[in-house]
Amino acid sequence: MMPRISQSLLILGSLLFLSACSSGGTSPLEARAMKNPVEPTEKTIASGKKYYDRYCAECHGATGKGDGEKAAVLAKAGEAKTPDLTDDKWDHGSTDGEVFVNIRDGVGRNGVMKGLNGKPGISDTEMWSIVNYVRTLKQ
Ligand code: HEC
Repeated sequence: MMPRISQSLLILGSLLFLSACSSGGTSPLEARAMKNPVEPTEKTIASGKKYYDRYCAECHGATGKGDGEKAAVLAKAGEAKTPDLTDDKWDHGSTDGEVFVNIRDGVGRNGVMKGLNGKPGISDTEMWSIVNYVRTLKQ
């Protein structure tokens, strides 16, 4: 009897572990490999722009240069510099998946950039659309 119980406990434990992993964030390797399920069409890019203007422009700037009003406030407070999203430099990962996870979970210490995860009306689809829009900022 005993081995059975410990076996089922082991299985239960593994299941709990796996579900904790799937809900508790994505590893950097997983993020890098994530495929963007939202086609970059005129429609999804326009939708991404709408959310960018609402949730991102105050820091990253209307055109993505990292020169939004709030970027100056953060800089004054000694927080991380708000990155330019139009250049080729990506400190936190350049693949669609990495950009998606940054948007979803946030970036930087002190919660300097909060993730959109859990915002009403924002699902994965909207966040992938923002990724598609961010791609169009590049000069
Ligand atoms: C409160 C200001 C603020 C808002 C709002 C904000 N960000 Fe950020 N973002 C930052 C800062 C600051 C960093 C850099 C953090 C660090 O490096 O520690 C950052 C980092 C990033 C990165 C990583 C860039 C790289 O070089 O790898 C991406 C991508 C990004 N933000 C996109 C967005 C998008 C898209 C939105 C809107 C959904 C958004 N951010 C909203 C301040 C903000």
